[in-house]
Amino acid sequence: MGANIFKNNPHQEEVDSDENEMKFAIWAISSHSIGRVELPMGVIDEVNEHIDNVIIPKHDDFSEGLIGQLKNDKKSAQLNFPFDDDLGKQCKLIFDTVGDTFLAKGYQRQSKTDCYQCWTNHAYAGDYNPYHDHGVQTTAGLSGVLWLEVPECIEKLDEENVSLNNASGGADGFLHLVWGTNNRKDILRLHPNTEAAVKPKVGTMLVFPNWLKHSVFPFFGEGERRSMAMNWNIYETEKELESWMTARESSKYGISQLNRESGISDKSEKNED
Ligand SMILES: [Fe+2]
Repeated sequence: MGANIFKNNPHQEEVDSDENEMKFAIWAISSHSIGRVELPMGVIDEVNEHIDNVIIPKHDDFSEGLIGQLKNDKKSAQLNFPFDDDLGKQCKLIFDTVGDTFLAKGYQRQSKTDCYQCWTNHAYAGDYNPYHDHGVQTTAGLSGVLWLEVPECIEKLDEENVSLNNASGGADGFLHLVWGTNNRKDILRLHPNTEAAVKPKVGTMLVFPNWLKHSVFPFFGEGERRSMAMNWNIYETEKELESWMTARESSKYGISQLNRESGISDKSEKNED
């Protein structure tokens, strides 16, 4: 594999330098991308109404394949959100657009994404989601979250300067993203920071590679922290696949080597969260 493992010429940003006619460029190396999407409040209202009127009454429990510990209130739940009705189909359209756009803008890949599963998280005081990543059915995949309701006790927290000192609860209800194990000393030695705590905001959606580890801290206060989570399979285009294969691999395996390796036809894997 890998005819063109070095095909991505690094983007080197030229920076201004008035001194000595020096030309200076910075090659900033990034490990991955995270997409942030802000949806119109009209869409959020419609989705919440659908959840209140259809998803919650139907109560198709999705917790069996998930690791979320949402259990401290009688309304705590993780529920299936199918795409088979009108509102569901509209959501799938939005999510597939988000997935395709994320791959194109964040990874310069013209691959097709398929958001194939989605569920709602109804979290109340004391509920939390332990450290985990998501499984998908293809080699590469995406996961995402859309925040639909955020209680006042989380809403009032500072998103910029997150401090946990003095038992402040400063990140209660936040999403913790982790992509490495670097500590403060590593960062001082010019290694990158490898974690972030993100405050949930109504109408905001995050999309990221499905291997990205994350957890949700518990919160302690009135109200519901409501979110939707979803997973995408990624189907590589023939052109994209061939660009990652040598001529021999391409002739030997034809198209879809990666797609085939991914077991796309095997829908048996049920590993949502
Ligand atoms: Fe998750």
